[in-house]
Amino acid sequence: MNTSFTPGERWLDTDGQPIQAHGGALLRHGDAWYWYGEDKTAHINSKVTTVTGVSCYRSTDLLNWKNCGLCLTASDDPASPIHSSKIVERPKVLFNALTGKFVMWMHLDENGYMFSRAGIAVADRPEGPFNLVRVQRSIAHDYGYPSPDPRNQREHGNAYLDMNLFLDDDGQGYVFHVSENLLTVYVSKLTPDFTDFLRPAQIGITWNRAILNKVREAPTPFKYEGQYYLFSSGCTFWDPNYTLLARAPHPFGPWENLGDPFTGAGAVHSHHTQPTSVFAMPGAPAGSFVFMADRWMPKELRDTRHVWLPFVMRDGTTQLDFRHHWDASIFTPKPAPVAPTIRGSLRYDNSVFNPVGVRLAWDAVPGADGYRVYADGFAVGFSDALTLDLPLPLPGVVQTYTVRAEALAGGSSPDSNAVPLRFGKPRRTHLSDHAPVRAFAGFGEILSDRAWDGEALRLGTTDYAKGLFAHVDSDISYLSGGAYARFTATIGLHAPRPAGHAFFSVEADGKTIFTSPLLRATEAPLKIDLPITGVRHLRLRAWNPDTIGDCHAVWAEVEIAP
Ligand code: DGJ
Repeated sequence: MNTSFTPGERWLDTDGQPIQAHGGALLRHGDAWYWYGEDKTAHINSKVTTVTGVSCYRSTDLLNWKNCGLCLTASDDPASPIHSSKIVERPKVLFNALTGKFVMWMHLDENGYMFSRAGIAVADRPEGPFNLVRVQRSIAHDYGYPSPDPRNQREHGNAYLDMNLFLDDDGQGYVFHVSENLLTVYVSKLTPDFTDFLRPAQIGITWNRAILNKVREAPTPFKYEGQYYLFSSGCTFWDPNYTLLARAPHPFGPWENLGDPFTGAGAVHSHHTQPTSVFAMPGAPAGSFVFMADRWMPKELRDTRHVWLPFVMRDGTTQLDFRHHWDASIFTPKPAPVAPTIRGSLRYDNSVFNPVGVRLAWDAVPGADGYRVYADGFAVGFSDALTLDLPLPLPGVVQTYTVRAEALAGGSSPDSNAVPLRFGKPRRTHLSDHAPVRAFAGFGEILSDRAWDGEALRLGTTDYAKGLFAHVDSDISYLSGGAYARFTATIGLHAPRPAGHAFFSVEADGKTIFTSPLLRATEAPLKIDLPITGVRHLRLRAWNPDTIGDCHAVWAEVEIAP
């Protein structure tokens, strides 16, 4: 019997087998929950895309799941769009009250993800069997198709990739999906029987382009207090990247970016997760939700883990934190905990002359279900354990660590005592030799001293040995503790991607102290030299007003000096 959620651990069904329901979602029907997802039993690694089918599990407590078998089985007909050699991803199911049928939408693909179509299947019972009734591209909308277009969208309709379904309170169904060769998220109303896009397609009336040119994947919608919310991931194949939350007054938008809901350095890869669905926790106060995500295991996809994280909506937004275990009692309202006491020390490798990081520890506080750690007042991590290891502060910076005890449904304690830690003296140093306290980057992680494909960092015709390969849009924070006087860098777009263009800016303690003109990969790089005396928080940003595709921001020889 499972009695708590253990995100990231193998989750066994009632037969003792790992639950195979990836890229999935729940459907509440009658007195039970049904969990649909990709069965990746035969999907050994990311090169083998053998499809077993869509699985269906049933539960009445959300913790213990009975395998109801495949509700959509891969076909052995090579001509079938669900032949076992092809790709069936992110299946979702809605119950249609009008027809009494269960309707599944999924992303069907083949040929290196160039087929890119929606598959729609229908069943009479929640456990299936589902029969494929339609396979189609999305709404045809000329967004300026590229030429050549790998997915031939002008001829076949626009691409349909990562997807989700959403059922509004008024019974209207919506499909969210990625289109335009991965650039843009589309939202479309479903027909009354949920088996098609509402037609004739009229932009702004039956469908809309929701998040334009930002290359988002895994769109995950939910609704709270009349507002619509959408988690999404970046796009890095099976590798994790950062999550963003957006909010809109209507599924068609306008979608406002609320930023990254995770805290600290682990946010850059969302604690190794990618969203797939959100559901409201039954029996819990309004605003209590669960974030369902996959921790893909690219070397052995069938071992992909489920990560379910509880979250609570507050003031029109939320934050997400990785927890090792939790249960539904986490949503029970309780008073804010009292402040804990924190201790800290440097961590060493094998010599006291060689510190490698910081270890913080605190005492458990009654009623707390997690602890948020701050460095110089800036949230740098969260833990539901009683210790946290962090990277070293910058040389010579006295970093003051505090912790607050939190109850998800009760708020947070005042600050603990403060622990100051420091090593070395301020010295001229490359920022690429130090871990940022927070970073997110358009595609995946920030790279130090190399480009994405293993190349050197190239600006114009010069290769740089040191620097940050930060992509676009990106946002990187360092805590410089008032110990440094100058910031220098050579900035530009990575030359091997000639279409790259972006603005760069440097923020010091919340004030913008530098903004570049629009820099292009084809132009000479720009040298910058900025005074930062007394500055405690440095933030390096690169962004692009039109697209993030093929734009790689480079901060070469980015140094700070006392
Ligand atoms: C990320 C998507 O979200 C997944 O559903 C899957 O399509 C992988 N990419 C394939 O690389």
